[in-house]
Amino acid sequence: MAELLPPLPLRRHLVANAIALAPSGVALVVLVWIGALPLLHALVAFGAITFVTAIVVRRYLLSVGRFARFVEALSHGDEAEVPRFVLSPAAEELAGGVAALARLWRRQRASIDSLSASAQAIVDGLPDPLLGIDRNRRVVRFNRAASTLLGPIETGRDLSATLRQPALLDAVDAALAGTPVQEPAEIVVPGPPERILAAHVAVLPRPTDDGSSVLVVLHDMTALRRAERMRADFVANASHELRTPLASLVGFVETLRGSARDDAEARDRFLGIMAEQTGRMRRLVEDLLSLSRIEQREHEPPTGRVELGPLLKGLVEMLEMKARPRDVTLRLQVAADLPAVIGDRDELAMAFQNLIDNAVKYTRPGTQVMVEAAPVNGGVRLVVHDQGEGIAAEHLPRLTERFYRVDTARSRQMGGTGLGLAIVKHVLNRHRGRLEVTSTVGEGSSFTVLLPAEQFSTTARKPAGS
Ligand SMILES: Nc1ncnc2c1ncn2[C@@H]1O[C@H](COP(=O)(O)OP(=O)(O)O)[C@@H](O)[C@H]1O
Ligand SMILES: [Mg+2]
Repeated sequence: MAELLPPLPLRRHLVANAIALAPSGVALVVLVWIGALPLLHALVAFGAITFVTAIVVRRYLLSVGRFARFVEALSHGDEAEVPRFVLSPAAEELAGGVAALARLWRRQRASIDSLSASAQAIVDGLPDPLLGIDRNRRVVRFNRAASTLLGPIETGRDLSATLRQPALLDAVDAALAGTPVQEPAEIVVPGPPERILAAHVAVLPRPTDDGSSVLVVLHDMTALRRAERMRADFVANASHELRTPLASLVGFVETLRGSARDDAEARDRFLGIMAEQTGRMRRLVEDLLSLSRIEQREHEPPTGRVELGPLLKGLVEMLEMKARPRDVTLRLQVAADLPAVIGDRDELAMAFQNLIDNAVKYTRPGTQVMVEAAPVNGGVRLVVHDQGEGIAAEHLPRLTERFYRVDTARSRQMGGTGLGLAIVKHVLNRHRGRLEVTSTVGEGSSFTVLLPAEQFSTTARKPAGS
Protein backbone atom coordinates (compact mmCIF):
# COMPACT_ATOMS: atom_id res chain seq x y z
CA MET A 1 0.00 0.00 0.00
CA ALA A 2 1.36 3.41 -0.97
CA GLU A 3 2.53 5.40 2.02
CA LEU A 4 0.94 8.78 2.30
CA LEU A 5 3.72 11.25 2.85
CA PRO A 6 3.45 14.99 3.13
CA PRO A 7 4.91 16.71 0.02
CA LEU A 8 8.53 17.73 0.41
CA PRO A 9 9.19 21.46 0.21
CA LEU A 10 10.28 22.44 -3.31
CA ARG A 11 13.25 24.41 -2.03
CA ARG A 12 14.73 21.35 -0.33
CA HIS A 13 14.28 19.44 -3.62
CA LEU A 14 15.98 22.08 -5.67
CA VAL A 15 18.93 22.46 -3.32
CA ALA A 16 19.47 18.67 -3.07
CA ASN A 17 19.24 18.22 -6.83
CA ALA A 18 21.60 21.13 -7.46
CA ILE A 19 24.18 19.65 -5.06
CA ALA A 20 23.85 16.18 -6.64
CA LEU A 21 24.07 17.54 -10.21
CA ALA A 22 26.98 19.94 -9.63
CA PRO A 23 29.92 17.46 -10.21
CA SER A 24 28.51 15.96 -13.45
CA GLY A 25 27.48 19.45 -14.69
CA VAL A 26 31.00 20.77 -14.13
CA ALA A 27 32.48 17.68 -15.91
CA LEU A 28 30.22 18.17 -18.98
CA VAL A 29 31.08 21.88 -19.18
CA VAL A 30 34.81 21.03 -19.12
CA LEU A 31 34.38 18.35 -21.79
CA VAL A 32 32.51 20.78 -24.07
CA TRP A 33 35.11 23.45 -23.31
CA ILE A 34 38.05 21.35 -24.41
CA GLY A 35 36.13 20.13 -27.44
CA ALA A 36 35.90 16.50 -26.35
CA LEU A 37 32.09 16.52 -26.48
CA PRO A 38 29.74 18.31 -28.87
CA LEU A 39 27.38 20.71 -27.04
CA LEU A 40 24.25 18.85 -28.20
CA HIS A 41 25.55 15.54 -26.80
CA ALA A 42 26.51 17.27 -23.61
CA LEU A 43 22.95 18.72 -23.23
CA VAL A 44 21.33 15.32 -23.89
CA ALA A 45 23.68 13.69 -21.38
CA PHE A 46 22.92 16.40 -18.75
CA GLY A 47 19.17 15.93 -19.33
CA ALA A 48 19.46 12.16 -18.77
CA ILE A 49 21.65 12.66 -15.65
CA THR A 50 19.16 15.24 -14.25
CA PHE A 51 16.26 12.79 -14.71
CA VAL A 52 17.98 9.91 -12.91
CA THR A 53 19.34 12.22 -10.15
CA ALA A 54 15.89 13.71 -9.52
CA ILE A 55 14.44 10.21 -8.94
CA VAL A 56 17.28 9.13 -6.65
CA VAL A 57 17.26 12.43 -4.71
CA ARG A 58 13.48 12.22 -4.25
CA ARG A 59 13.69 8.70 -2.82
CA TYR A 60 16.54 9.74 -0.56
CA LEU A 61 14.68 12.77 0.73
CA LEU A 62 11.58 10.66 1.38
CA SER A 63 13.72 8.22 3.39
CA VAL A 64 15.14 11.04 5.48
CA GLY A 65 11.62 12.36 6.11
CA ARG A 66 10.44 8.89 7.12
CA PHE A 67 13.39 8.51 9.46
CA ALA A 68 12.64 11.86 11.09
CA ARG A 69 9.00 10.88 11.65
CA PHE A 70 10.05 7.49 13.04
CA VAL A 71 12.34 9.11 15.61
CA GLU A 72 9.63 11.60 16.49
CA ALA A 73 7.10 8.80 17.07
CA LEU A 74 9.57 7.01 19.35
CA SER A 75 10.21 10.19 21.28
CA HIS A 76 6.47 10.39 22.02
CA GLY A 77 6.67 6.92 23.52
CA ASP A 78 4.81 5.25 20.62
CA GLU A 79 5.90 1.79 19.57
CA ALA A 80 6.63 2.71 15.90
CA GLU A 81 7.61 0.09 13.33
CA VAL A 82 11.05 0.53 11.68
CA PRO A 83 10.20 1.93 8.21
CA ARG A 84 11.72 0.57 5.01
CA PHE A 85 14.43 2.71 3.48
CA VAL A 86 15.07 2.34 -0.24
CA LEU A 87 18.55 3.19 -1.41
CA SER A 88 19.54 4.30 2.09
CA PRO A 89 21.28 1.51 4.02
CA ALA A 90 22.80 4.01 6.47
CA ALA A 91 19.36 5.30 7.39
CA GLU A 92 18.19 1.71 7.89
CA GLU A 93 21.08 0.95 10.21
CA LEU A 94 20.53 4.14 12.16
CA ALA A 95 16.80 3.43 12.50
CA GLY A 96 17.55 -0.07 13.87
CA GLY A 97 19.88 1.43 16.47
CA VAL A 98 17.38 4.08 17.45
CA ALA A 99 14.61 1.46 17.77
CA ALA A 100 16.80 -0.68 20.08
CA LEU A 101 17.56 2.40 22.17
CA ALA A 102 13.86 3.22 22.37
CA ARG A 103 13.06 -0.36 23.49
CA LEU A 104 15.66 -0.15 26.24
CA TRP A 105 14.35 3.23 27.32
CA ARG A 106 10.78 1.90 27.41
CA ARG A 107 11.84 -1.06 29.57
CA GLN A 108 13.62 1.22 32.00
CA ARG A 109 10.70 3.59 32.04
CA ALA A 110 8.38 0.67 32.85
CA SER A 111 10.61 -0.48 35.69
CA ILE A 112 10.81 3.08 37.06
CA ASP A 113 7.00 3.34 36.84
CA SER A 114 6.57 0.03 38.62
CA LEU A 115 9.09 1.03 41.31
CA SER A 116 7.30 4.27 41.95
CA ALA A 117 3.91 2.49 41.94
CA SER A 118 5.17 -0.01 44.53
CA ALA A 119 6.64 2.81 46.61
CA GLN A 120 3.25 4.55 46.56
CA ALA A 121 1.49 1.24 47.32
CA ILE A 122 3.75 0.70 50.34
CA VAL A 123 3.16 4.26 51.56
CA ASP A 124 -0.59 3.86 51.00
CA GLY A 125 -0.58 0.51 52.76
CA LEU A 126 0.92 1.98 55.94
CA PRO A 127 -1.69 1.98 58.68
CA ASP A 128 -0.37 5.26 60.06
CA PRO A 129 -1.04 8.57 58.30
CA LEU A 130 2.02 9.99 56.54
CA LEU A 131 2.64 13.44 55.04
CA GLY A 132 5.61 14.55 52.91
CA ILE A 133 6.55 18.20 53.53
CA ASP A 134 8.80 20.28 51.27
CA ARG A 135 11.38 22.95 52.17
CA ASN A 136 8.70 25.62 52.26
CA ARG A 137 6.53 23.57 54.66
CA ARG A 138 4.05 22.67 51.93
CA VAL A 139 2.36 19.26 51.86
CA VAL A 140 3.59 17.53 48.71
CA ARG A 141 2.55 13.95 49.39
CA PHE A 142 0.20 12.01 51.67
CA ASN A 143 -1.05 8.46 51.99
CA ARG A 144 -4.54 6.98 52.18
CA ALA A 145 -4.50 6.71 55.99
CA ALA A 146 -3.81 10.47 56.13
CA SER A 147 -6.81 11.39 53.99
CA THR A 148 -9.00 8.93 55.90
CA LEU A 149 -8.03 10.55 59.20
CA LEU A 150 -7.79 14.20 58.17
CA GLY A 151 -10.30 14.43 55.33
CA PRO A 152 -9.44 15.87 51.91
CA ILE A 153 -5.84 17.14 51.76
CA GLU A 154 -4.67 19.61 49.11
CA THR A 155 -1.08 19.25 48.03
CA GLY A 156 0.98 22.39 47.47
CA ARG A 157 -0.53 24.18 50.48
CA ASP A 158 1.13 25.00 53.78
CA LEU A 159 0.94 22.22 56.38
CA SER A 160 -1.08 24.54 58.63
CA ALA A 161 -4.01 24.27 56.17
CA THR A 162 -4.21 20.56 57.06
CA LEU A 163 -2.95 20.46 60.65
CA ARG A 164 -2.78 23.74 62.52
CA GLN A 165 -1.54 22.38 65.85
CA PRO A 166 1.32 24.72 66.94
CA ALA A 167 3.30 21.86 68.56
CA LEU A 168 3.47 20.03 65.22
CA LEU A 169 4.20 23.15 63.15
CA ASP A 170 7.03 24.05 65.56
CA ALA A 171 8.48 20.54 65.29
CA VAL A 172 8.37 20.68 61.46
CA ASP A 173 9.93 24.17 61.43
CA ALA A 174 12.72 22.92 63.70
CA ALA A 175 13.30 19.90 61.43
CA LEU A 176 13.43 22.14 58.33
CA ALA A 177 15.88 24.43 60.11
CA GLY A 178 18.15 21.44 60.76
CA THR A 179 17.47 21.05 64.48
CA PRO A 180 14.95 18.19 64.62
CA VAL A 181 13.26 17.36 67.92
CA GLN A 182 13.57 13.69 68.83
CA GLU A 183 10.41 13.45 70.94
CA PRO A 184 7.13 13.05 69.00
CA ALA A 185 4.74 15.97 69.37
CA GLU A 186 1.40 15.00 70.91
CA ILE A 187 -1.46 16.73 69.14
CA VAL A 188 -5.23 16.66 69.45
CA VAL A 189 -7.27 16.65 66.24
CA PRO A 190 -10.76 17.97 66.99
CA GLY A 191 -13.54 15.54 66.21
CA PRO A 192 -15.91 14.10 66.27
CA PRO A 193 -14.41 11.79 67.21
CA GLU A 194 -11.58 13.72 68.84
CA ARG A 195 -8.23 12.04 68.25
CA ILE A 196 -4.99 12.16 70.20
CA LEU A 197 -2.01 11.64 67.88
CA ALA A 198 1.72 11.31 68.36
CA ALA A 199 3.39 13.16 65.48
CA HIS A 200 6.85 11.86 64.57
CA VAL A 201 8.82 14.32 62.43
CA ALA A 202 11.70 12.80 60.43
CA VAL A 203 14.19 14.66 58.23
CA LEU A 204 15.04 12.87 54.96
CA PRO A 205 18.77 12.60 54.10
CA ARG A 206 18.01 14.40 50.81
CA PRO A 207 14.78 15.66 49.26
CA THR A 208 12.81 13.09 47.24
CA ASP A 209 11.61 13.62 43.66
CA ASP A 210 8.33 15.10 44.82
CA GLY A 211 10.24 17.61 46.95
CA SER A 212 9.61 16.00 50.35
CA SER A 213 12.29 17.11 52.81
CA VAL A 214 10.53 16.11 56.00
CA LEU A 215 8.14 13.26 56.75
CA VAL A 216 5.39 13.57 59.33
CA VAL A 217 4.06 10.22 60.59
CA LEU A 218 1.02 10.33 62.85
CA HIS A 219 0.29 7.54 65.29
CA ASP A 220 -3.16 7.27 66.85
CA MET A 221 -2.86 7.27 70.63
CA THR A 222 -6.56 7.78 71.35
CA ALA A 223 -7.28 4.19 72.45
CA LEU A 224 -4.12 4.05 74.55
CA ARG A 225 -4.82 7.35 76.29
CA ARG A 226 -8.45 6.33 76.85
CA ALA A 227 -7.32 3.02 78.36
CA GLU A 228 -4.88 4.88 80.61
CA ARG A 229 -7.61 7.24 81.75
CA MET A 230 -10.03 4.36 82.33
CA ARG A 231 -7.45 2.53 84.40
CA ALA A 232 -6.75 5.62 86.49
CA ASP A 233 -10.50 6.25 86.93
CA PHE A 234 -11.03 2.61 87.87
CA VAL A 235 -8.35 2.67 90.55
CA ALA A 236 -9.72 5.97 91.90
CA ASN A 237 -13.30 4.63 91.91
CA ALA A 238 -12.38 1.31 93.50
CA SER A 239 -10.35 3.04 96.21
CA HIS A 240 -13.17 5.46 96.85
CA GLU A 241 -15.74 2.63 97.09
CA LEU A 242 -13.56 0.82 99.63
CA ARG A 243 -12.63 3.91 101.58
CA THR A 244 -16.21 4.84 102.47
CA PRO A 245 -17.10 1.62 104.36
CA LEU A 246 -13.60 1.49 105.77
CA ALA A 247 -13.90 5.02 107.16
CA SER A 248 -17.22 4.08 108.71
CA LEU A 249 -15.68 0.94 110.30
CA VAL A 250 -12.79 2.96 111.69
CA GLY A 251 -15.28 5.47 113.15
CA PHE A 252 -17.34 2.80 114.84
CA VAL A 253 -14.29 1.04 116.24
CA GLU A 254 -13.21 4.37 117.78
CA THR A 255 -16.67 4.95 119.22
CA LEU A 256 -16.89 1.42 120.62
CA ARG A 257 -13.55 1.88 122.28
CA GLY A 258 -14.52 5.25 123.66
CA SER A 259 -17.91 6.68 124.50
CA ALA A 260 -19.96 3.58 123.66
CA ARG A 261 -17.70 1.17 125.53
CA ASP A 262 -20.25 0.45 128.23
CA ASP A 263 -23.41 1.02 126.23
CA ALA A 264 -24.69 -2.46 125.34
CA GLU A 265 -27.54 -1.20 123.17
CA ALA A 266 -25.31 1.12 121.12
CA ARG A 267 -22.72 -1.64 120.78
CA ASP A 268 -25.28 -4.01 119.26
CA ARG A 269 -26.50 -1.36 116.88
CA PHE A 270 -22.99 -0.39 115.83
CA LEU A 271 -21.90 -3.98 115.36
CA GLY A 272 -24.91 -4.45 113.08
CA ILE A 273 -23.82 -1.48 110.96
CA MET A 274 -20.24 -2.71 110.98
CA ALA A 275 -21.34 -6.13 109.74
CA GLU A 276 -23.25 -4.39 106.95
CA GLN A 277 -20.18 -2.35 105.97
CA THR A 278 -17.87 -5.36 105.98
CA GLY A 279 -20.43 -7.17 103.83
CA ARG A 280 -20.31 -4.30 101.39
CA MET A 281 -16.53 -4.41 101.31
CA ARG A 282 -16.56 -8.16 100.80
CA ARG A 283 -19.03 -7.90 97.90
CA LEU A 284 -16.91 -5.21 96.32
CA VAL A 285 -13.70 -7.22 96.61
CA GLU A 286 -15.46 -10.34 95.28
CA ASP A 287 -16.86 -8.45 92.30
CA LEU A 288 -13.47 -6.89 91.58
CA LEU A 289 -11.83 -10.31 91.67
CA SER A 290 -14.53 -11.84 89.45
CA LEU A 291 -14.17 -9.03 86.97
CA SER A 292 -10.40 -9.39 86.78
CA ARG A 293 -10.65 -13.20 86.41
CA ILE A 294 -13.20 -12.88 83.58
CA GLU A 295 -11.13 -10.23 81.86
CA GLN A 296 -8.03 -12.42 81.99
CA ARG A 297 -9.91 -15.24 80.26
CA GLU A 298 -11.87 -13.03 77.88
CA HIS A 299 -9.90 -14.14 74.81
CA GLU A 300 -10.07 -17.84 75.70
CA PRO A 301 -13.27 -19.25 74.21
CA PRO A 302 -15.28 -21.32 76.75
CA THR A 303 -15.49 -25.05 76.15
CA GLY A 304 -18.24 -26.38 78.43
CA ARG A 305 -21.78 -27.32 77.42
CA VAL A 306 -24.47 -25.59 79.44
CA GLU A 307 -28.20 -26.39 79.63
CA LEU A 308 -29.74 -23.07 80.51
CA GLY A 309 -33.10 -24.39 81.84
CA PRO A 310 -31.81 -26.01 85.05
CA LEU A 311 -29.28 -23.22 85.55
CA LEU A 312 -31.99 -20.54 85.46
CA LYS A 313 -34.29 -22.59 87.68
CA GLY A 314 -31.59 -22.76 90.36
CA LEU A 315 -30.92 -19.04 90.16
CA VAL A 316 -34.60 -18.11 90.35
CA GLU A 317 -35.11 -20.33 93.39
CA MET A 318 -32.14 -18.74 95.11
CA LEU A 319 -33.25 -15.18 94.31
CA GLU A 320 -36.83 -15.82 95.41
CA MET A 321 -35.53 -15.52 98.97
CA LYS A 322 -34.51 -11.99 98.18
CA ALA A 323 -37.66 -11.21 96.21
CA ARG A 324 -40.16 -12.36 98.82
CA PRO A 325 -39.45 -9.68 101.46
CA ARG A 326 -39.94 -7.07 98.72
CA ASP A 327 -43.23 -8.68 97.73
CA VAL A 328 -41.80 -9.34 94.26
CA THR A 329 -42.79 -12.48 92.38
CA LEU A 330 -40.35 -14.18 90.06
CA ARG A 331 -41.64 -16.04 87.02
CA LEU A 332 -39.51 -18.25 84.83
CA GLN A 333 -40.50 -19.42 81.38
CA VAL A 334 -38.10 -21.71 79.53
CA ALA A 335 -39.00 -22.96 76.05
CA ALA A 336 -39.09 -26.75 75.85
CA ASP A 337 -36.84 -26.80 72.77
CA LEU A 338 -34.21 -24.47 74.22
CA PRO A 339 -30.84 -25.54 72.78
CA ALA A 340 -27.76 -25.89 74.95
CA VAL A 341 -24.98 -23.33 74.64
CA ILE A 342 -21.21 -23.67 74.69
CA GLY A 343 -20.08 -21.73 77.70
CA ASP A 344 -18.63 -21.48 81.15
CA ARG A 345 -21.34 -22.47 83.59
CA ASP A 346 -20.11 -20.40 86.52
CA GLU A 347 -19.61 -17.28 84.43
CA LEU A 348 -23.04 -17.55 82.79
CA ALA A 349 -24.61 -18.11 86.22
CA MET A 350 -22.85 -15.00 87.51
CA ALA A 351 -24.10 -12.92 84.56
CA PHE A 352 -27.72 -14.11 84.77
CA GLN A 353 -27.73 -13.76 88.54
CA ASN A 354 -26.67 -10.12 88.19
CA LEU A 355 -29.47 -9.39 85.74
CA ILE A 356 -32.20 -11.11 87.79
CA ASP A 357 -30.82 -9.57 90.99
CA ASN A 358 -30.98 -6.09 89.43
CA ALA A 359 -34.56 -6.67 88.30
CA VAL A 360 -35.57 -7.80 91.79
CA LYS A 361 -33.80 -4.80 93.32
CA TYR A 362 -35.14 -2.18 90.95
CA THR A 363 -38.68 -3.39 90.24
CA ARG A 364 -41.48 -1.79 92.25
CA PRO A 365 -42.60 -3.74 95.35
CA GLY A 366 -45.62 -5.90 94.62
CA THR A 367 -44.76 -6.39 90.96
CA GLN A 368 -43.48 -9.29 88.93
CA VAL A 369 -40.09 -10.03 87.40
CA MET A 370 -40.29 -12.19 84.32
CA VAL A 371 -37.39 -14.36 83.11
CA GLU A 372 -37.88 -15.88 79.68
CA ALA A 373 -35.53 -18.09 77.70
CA ALA A 374 -36.34 -19.08 74.14
CA PRO A 375 -34.56 -20.16 70.99
CA VAL A 376 -34.01 -17.56 68.26
CA ASN A 377 -32.48 -18.20 64.88
CA GLY A 378 -29.02 -19.49 65.53
CA GLY A 379 -29.09 -18.88 69.24
CA VAL A 380 -30.75 -18.43 72.56
CA ARG A 381 -32.46 -15.34 73.89
CA LEU A 382 -32.87 -14.65 77.58
CA VAL A 383 -35.01 -11.70 78.64
CA VAL A 384 -35.25 -10.36 82.19
CA HIS A 385 -38.16 -7.99 82.43
CA ASP A 386 -39.09 -5.88 85.44
CA GLN A 387 -41.75 -3.31 86.30
CA GLY A 388 -39.47 -0.77 87.94
CA GLU A 389 -38.90 2.94 87.44
CA GLY A 390 -37.08 2.32 84.18
CA ILE A 391 -33.85 3.93 82.99
CA ALA A 392 -33.68 7.21 81.04
CA ALA A 393 -32.25 6.78 77.53
CA GLU A 394 -29.12 8.87 78.20
CA HIS A 395 -27.92 6.33 80.79
CA LEU A 396 -28.34 3.24 78.60
CA PRO A 397 -25.03 3.43 76.66
CA ARG A 398 -23.02 3.75 79.89
CA LEU A 399 -24.75 1.14 82.06
CA THR A 400 -22.06 -1.51 81.54
CA GLU A 401 -19.20 0.81 82.57
CA ARG A 402 -17.60 -0.11 85.86
CA PHE A 403 -19.14 1.76 88.80
CA TYR A 404 -21.63 3.54 86.59
CA ARG A 405 -24.96 3.84 88.38
CA VAL A 406 -28.05 5.85 87.58
CA ASP A 407 -28.61 6.56 91.26
CA THR A 408 -25.48 5.84 93.31
CA ALA A 409 -27.10 6.28 96.72
CA ARG A 410 -29.94 3.92 95.81
CA SER A 411 -27.55 1.33 94.39
CA ARG A 412 -25.47 1.41 97.60
CA GLN A 413 -28.54 1.24 99.77
CA MET A 414 -29.60 -1.90 97.89
CA GLY A 415 -26.15 -3.41 98.44
CA GLY A 416 -24.97 -2.87 94.87
CA THR A 417 -21.34 -2.47 93.86
CA GLY A 418 -21.91 -0.90 90.44
CA LEU A 419 -19.89 -3.73 88.88
CA GLY A 420 -22.68 -6.19 88.04
CA LEU A 421 -23.39 -5.09 84.48
CA ALA A 422 -19.66 -4.72 83.74
CA ILE A 423 -19.29 -8.37 84.73
CA VAL A 424 -22.26 -9.26 82.48
CA LYS A 425 -20.65 -7.46 79.55
CA HIS A 426 -17.30 -9.22 79.89
CA VAL A 427 -18.91 -12.65 80.35
CA LEU A 428 -20.95 -12.10 77.19
CA ASN A 429 -17.89 -10.88 75.28
CA ARG A 430 -16.15 -14.12 76.12
CA HIS A 431 -19.22 -16.09 74.98
CA ARG A 432 -19.59 -14.07 71.77
CA GLY A 433 -22.96 -12.95 73.08
CA ARG A 434 -24.67 -9.59 73.29
CA LEU A 435 -26.61 -7.54 75.82
CA GLU A 436 -29.48 -5.31 74.73
CA VAL A 437 -31.31 -3.00 77.12
CA THR A 438 -34.65 -1.39 76.47
CA SER A 439 -36.45 0.64 79.07
CA THR A 440 -39.45 2.92 79.46
CA VAL A 441 -39.28 5.37 82.33
CA GLY A 442 -42.13 4.70 84.74
CA GLU A 443 -42.93 1.29 83.23
CA GLY A 444 -39.89 -0.93 83.53
CA SER A 445 -36.84 -2.35 81.79
CA SER A 446 -35.92 -5.40 79.72
CA PHE A 447 -32.39 -6.79 79.71
CA THR A 448 -31.94 -9.18 76.78
CA VAL A 449 -29.03 -11.56 76.41
CA LEU A 450 -28.34 -13.19 73.04
CA LEU A 451 -26.03 -16.20 72.94
CA PRO A 452 -25.05 -18.41 69.99
CA ALA A 453 -26.52 -21.91 70.29
CA GLU A 454 -24.24 -24.93 70.63
CA GLN A 455 -24.40 -26.01 66.98
CA PHE A 456 -23.65 -22.46 65.77
CA SER A 457 -20.83 -21.87 68.18
CA THR A 458 -17.42 -21.97 66.51
CA THR A 459 -15.64 -22.76 69.75
CA ALA A 460 -14.33 -26.28 70.13
CA ARG A 461 -15.93 -28.56 72.66
CA LYS A 462 -13.92 -30.64 75.06
CA PRO A 463 -14.74 -34.33 74.60
CA ALA A 464 -15.53 -34.84 78.30
CA GLY A 465 -17.59 -31.65 78.66
CA SER A 466 -17.41 -29.73 81.91
N1 LIG B 1 -33.42 -3.52 86.12
C1 LIG B 1 -32.97 -2.28 86.32
N2 LIG B 1 -33.82 -1.24 86.46
C2 LIG B 1 -33.36 0.00 86.67
N3 LIG B 1 -32.05 0.32 86.73
C3 LIG B 1 -31.17 -0.66 86.60
C4 LIG B 1 -31.57 -2.02 86.37
N4 LIG B 1 -30.45 -2.76 86.26
C5 LIG B 1 -29.41 -1.91 86.40
N5 LIG B 1 -29.84 -0.67 86.62
C6 LIG B 1 -29.00 0.54 86.78
O1 LIG B 1 -27.71 0.24 86.30
C7 LIG B 1 -26.76 0.46 87.33
C8 LIG B 1 -25.62 -0.52 87.18
O2 LIG B 1 -26.02 -1.83 87.43
P1 LIG B 1 -25.02 -2.84 88.11
O3 LIG B 1 -23.76 -2.75 87.37
O4 LIG B 1 -25.66 -4.16 88.22
O5 LIG B 1 -24.75 -2.19 89.51
P2 LIG B 1 -25.51 -2.36 90.91
O6 LIG B 1 -26.61 -3.32 90.70
O7 LIG B 1 -24.48 -2.89 91.81
O8 LIG B 1 -25.94 -1.01 91.27
C9 LIG B 1 -27.52 0.33 88.60
O9 LIG B 1 -26.91 1.04 89.64
C10 LIG B 1 -28.85 0.93 88.22
O10 LIG B 1 -28.77 2.32 88.32
MG1 LIG C 1 -26.21 -5.34 89.89
